[in-house]
This record gives sequence, structure tokens and C-alpha cells, in this order.
Amino acid sequence: MNMDTMIKKIFDENDYKTLCNEVWRHNKLYYIDHTPEISDQEFDLLLKQLENIEKDHPDWVSSDSPSQRVGEMLTEGFKSVTHKTPMLSLANSYSKEEVEDFIKRVQKILDSEDLVFSCELKMDGIAVSVCYENGRFIRGVTRGDGRKGDDITSNIKTIASLPLKLTGSNFPDYLEVRGEAFMPHRVFQDLNDERENLGEDLWANPRNAAAGSLKLLNPIEVAKRGLAVYFYGIAAESSGEISHQSEIHDYLSAFGLPTLPHHAKCCSIEEIWKFVEKIQNLRPELPYDIDGIVIKLDNLRDQKKVGFTAKSPRWAIAYKFAAEQAVTKIRDITIQVGRTGVMTPVAELEPVLCAGSTISRATLHNEDEIKRKDIRIGDTVVIEKGGDVIPKVVNVNLEKRPSSSKPWFMPDHCPYCSSEVERVPGEVAVRCPNISGCPQQKLRRISYFVAKGAMDIDNLGVKVVEQLVKIGFVTRPSDIYTLNANHLIQLEGFKEKSISNLLSSIEASKNVPLARFIMAIGIKYVGKGTAELLANKAGDIDTLSKLSREELLEIEGVGDKVADAVIEFFKDSNNVEEVQRLLALGVKPQSVEVVDFGEHPFKGKTFVITGTLEEYSRAQAGTLIKERGGKVTGSVSKKTDFLLAGEAAGSKLTKAESLGVKIFTEKEFVELL
Ligand code: IVH
Repeated sequence: MNMDTMIKKIFDENDYKTLCNEVWRHNKLYYIDHTPEISDQEFDLLLKQLENIEKDHPDWVSSDSPSQRVGEMLTEGFKSVTHKTPMLSLANSYSKEEVEDFIKRVQKILDSEDLVFSCELKMDGIAVSVCYENGRFIRGVTRGDGRKGDDITSNIKTIASLPLKLTGSNFPDYLEVRGEAFMPHRVFQDLNDERENLGEDLWANPRNAAAGSLKLLNPIEVAKRGLAVYFYGIAAESSGEISHQSEIHDYLSAFGLPTLPHHAKCCSIEEIWKFVEKIQNLRPELPYDIDGIVIKLDNLRDQKKVGFTAKSPRWAIAYKFAAEQAVTKIRDITIQVGRTGVMTPVAELEPVLCAGSTISRATLHNEDEIKRKDIRIGDTVVIEKGGDVIPKVVNVNLEKRPSSSKPWFMPDHCPYCSSEVERVPGEVAVRCPNISGCPQQKLRRISYFVAKGAMDIDNLGVKVVEQLVKIGFVTRPSDIYTLNANHLIQLEGFKEKSISNLLSSIEASKNVPLARFIMAIGIKYVGKGTAELLANKAGDIDTLSKLSREELLEIEGVGDKVADAVIEFFKDSNNVEEVQRLLALGVKPQSVEVVDFGEHPFKGKTFVITGTLEEYSRAQAGTLIKERGGKVTGSVSKKTDFLLAGEAAGSKLTKAESLGVKIFTEKEFVELL
């Protein structure tokens, strides 16, 4: 349903339920999929509307209404931890007037006009809670639903600026600090450049990239994501040393904890607004994303008096910067065809200045999105570039729609090779099925093959690949290894030096690590992380081509989709022939040593894991079992060989006992590893 339709008057309980579902959908898009479709402001509007309806119809409200508990959701694969002090959210405001109202509310509650507020950056990252015992880092947890979060200890530990040991000697025995993990712009840019080279989907913004990274199941991968953290608060029961929010920054940095730069004590809305404007001017130069300013009552004793609502403190408010928007016209809608044939519609815009850069294209994602927003060629549209790298079309101004305009549909034929397009039932993506013949797919596949992160061939950029394909010297990746100086001299701008540089890069790429080779050959759904999992399991390309579906599914992190894609890939004789040709032309993927656990007692055994484990998350324990040849299932049955029971194991333990299944404590399990 479209936003405008949503904001219309709600008539009955069914409309109300539809609105609830819509809010949940956007909540999931933001917190789980990290691909929001609407801005925070639009989301707040939807939520506000929902709350207004609930005020008028309290009988409609159920405990699973989003008004009761929107927010981050828990993620599978992580141990869930209950926060000792709930991690609440902040109420949002979007204007000076709203901030002023907040100040008046607080003044009224405290019956005083003489109040000090502490203003801080609102970091646009992921809220984390980090615990230290006797100065040693012991745990890191996400906000989750505010009461329970995901235990991301191993992941957060990889953040270089996070001290594992506090400095000084005055720290309390137990310290629980609250802050925001984020991805600095520089790291984000590098990561996205690499993704672009590989033809992978780009992260829309650093927040999504940070969220996705912190939820990776493999800490080694997280370490490569260059995350950072700033702390801005202390969980209530571990404070006591300080009396004002403004002291927190110095207090925490004395222990070596990274704290927020830029904060100010303000006594009036004018002073607050000066700070807001100062930061707004500074924002383009900051090396990380912020999405607003947080204004907190400075005196902690007063904060206690003012208290909380169910979801947020009454003593603080977030002033959120509006995403930058601009109005322009859609000149045309064109189609991009990716290396796997997926067709993506793109809005070609009349160039317009927005958030400091000229925007002339915006992604329209897919046909469904165009239908949902009813976007047409010739439409006047609002585009938005928030923290996002890829601008998006927010909505259409229907009043300015030319009378001759017609709804837009995905073409029935590929614009590059005229093949009839393929629609897979249940999938939004439309594909060009002409895998071997479509010139655009070919070009994308070759660019992907040579990119950094895959074969990593220097001096072979998109423009050179385009020429090589156009002349016909390269029609498939392996042709690159047949190129010689006679070919290259025919390319525009190529002279002796550039020829020898490119030929040496091609030669150097032959000794490629196996994982990068697996990436380069372009198996559907196999990105960098999955390629590494496959390389570690198989050890060499020949073994990979022979793994059965069951063997592939034994790899933690490989599901049905990837397993099927690998099988399909090696079933296709064209692919097998291409891999063989690459090897024959001298490409030597470097084998990976596979650890062999031999006849381990877990081999061939079926495990169920239950309860809370001390040392591992359940996903990690699962990986350890699978590495040793075991299998993990979700429920206890006669077929279960072992139950690994952690703390507070419940019905699965009882069932296992009644069926006589062998039960391991975590300690026994670790000994057997
Ligand atoms: S204080 C009980 N201060 O904003 C109040 N939050 O929209 C706790 N955030 O979940 C929050 N910068 O993840 C606070 N300087 C700051 C912040 C900040 C970013 C995030 C935090 C929170 C979210 C609420």
C-alpha cells in the first residue's frame, strides 16, 4: 500500500489492522533487512497515525500492535540476553517548535524554568550495550526489542577502538555503557567500491552496512568491516559516580572508552538551536553519519523525577534532520541488466541538486515498486538523498502528471538482446534468460570476473573490458588469458607500457586464492563470504564441483538456495568447460587446507541444541558439530543421538530424557571437541 493511501482517513478496524501490518512491514525492512523503503519521518508519521487511531479506539489495540513494541527484532543465531536496564528509544521531533514543546513539558514537570540541557550528536548507527567487570570487557549486546538483545560479544570485540581493558584505576567494579556502533564514511566507501566492482548490491548507507556487519555470524568477517563505536551513557544501576549527563563524556574517556565528540550545555531553546545549526553546518565534514541532535536534561536526579513513558525517556528528545529532498522530472525509465540477467528499472531524471550533489538517476528497484508508487515517465517526483548513496523516488506529484501519461510496465523483451524476459512466480525480479548470448550480461560477467575481490586484474577497468568485448577479443572470461600484445595494441590509448602492465596483471592474477576464484566464476547467490565457506569446505575446485547437495548443506551459512545454485552451476556443461579452460590456460586457484577431524565421535550423529550456552552461541556450537561431521536439527525425536543442553533447558531436555537420548552438558561437549 502506498504512503499517501495510508495517511488517508482510517474507516474501520480492518483498515486499522492493515495499517498495523504496514508498520510491521516497514519495521522489518529497517531493522532486519536493512533496506528501508521510507524515511524515518514517514515511518514516524505512520506510527503517529496508528497511535491516534488507538486513542479513539482503545478496544482495537492488541499487545502485538506496533505501537506497543516496534524496534529492532532479535536475530537467529545469536544468544539472547535480557538487559539489566531496558534500552529505551527516543521520541523524535522535526522542528524547533517541537523541541520547544519538549522543554516546556520538562519545565512544567519540574516546576522550574531554570534548567540545563545537554546536547549531543545523534549517531546514525546501531545501539549497543557493553559491560565491563573489574575493568575487563565481558559482553556486548544489541538493543533488540529494548528488553532483550542479541549477544554480539565476539563481533563487537573486533572493533579496534573498543578497549578490552579499561585504563586508570577508578572504574567501578561493574560498568555497563551504552553507545552506538557505526561505520565511518571512509570504510563504507571502500566497502561499496569493492561491491560495485563485483557487481554486488550496494549498501544504501553506512547504518545499514554497520547493522548487517554486526549481525554476521563470523567475527573474522566482522573484523574486516572496520566498525567504530562511541559511548554516550551508562546503564542506570552502574552509575552513581556522576551527577550530570554532561560529565559522562570525560568520565568514560578517562577509562579509555571512545566518547561522542561535539556536545554542549544549553540553558534555552536559543542556545540549543545555535548548537543544532552549528552541527548542521559541520555535518558534511564529519567522517561519520549523524541523523540529528539528542537533547537531554543534564541533571541526572532531575531525569529520575521526570521519568519515562513505556518506550522512551521524558527527559530527552531527538531532533532529527530532515532527509534532503528535491523535486524533478522523470525523463525516461531505462533498464539495467546485471550479470545474472536481473533487470532493474532506473529513473533517468532531469538533473537536480540534492544533498550537495547533482542527481540524474534514481533506482526504481523493481516493477512492483513502480506499481506501488505508480511512477510514470513524465512525472514530477520528489527524490530523496538521505544518508543513502543511491537516491530514491519518494513520491509522485499527481497534480503535475501529464494527461497523456501511461502506467509503466517492464518490457517483454530485453533491451540489449531482444530475448523474451522471464518472470519467476513468487519472485519480484524479472530476468533476461539469454545467459550466453545477451551482450550486456556478458559484459557484466566479464567485469565481475576481473574485479577487485574476484580475479583482481589491475589495469582492466570497465572501459577496457567494453572495448575487448566490442572488438570480439573477449566473449567469455577465459578469453582474457589468451590475450597478447597484438590484441592489446588495437585498443584505444594502448602503448608499449600499458600493454606490458596489463599483460603482467593478467599473469599475476593466475595464482588466485580459491575463494576469490569461486567468486569470480559467478555462481548465483555466491558472494565473498559464501565463496570463503565453500573454499574452506572443498579445499579445491574439483572437489567443490563434486560436492553433493547434502554435503553443501552441512556448511554452516549455506542454505537451500546456495546449495541448489552450486549444484546447478556444475551441472551446466558450459560452466564446467569454462572452468576447465581457465585451468588449462594457467589459472591455478590456491588450494585451502581442510581440517580433517577423521573419525570424530560426532561424525554422522544428529544433535539438538537447547538452553543457553556459556561459551558459544547456538549457531557457533552448530558449526563446531558440523565441522566434525555431525548434523543439527531443531526438535528432539527418536532419531536424535545427542542433546547439548545449556542453562535453563526446558521441554527439549525433558523429552530427550524420556526418549533416553544421551545428554551433554556444555563442559562435556567442549571436552569432546
Ligand atoms: S540516548 C534512554 N544519545 O538513538 C535514551 N541515543 O532513536 C537512550 N542514539 O536507541 C538513548 N546517538 O541508538 C542517545 N547521543 C545519543 C545517541 C543516541 C544515537 C541512538 C540510540 C537510540 C536511538 C533512539
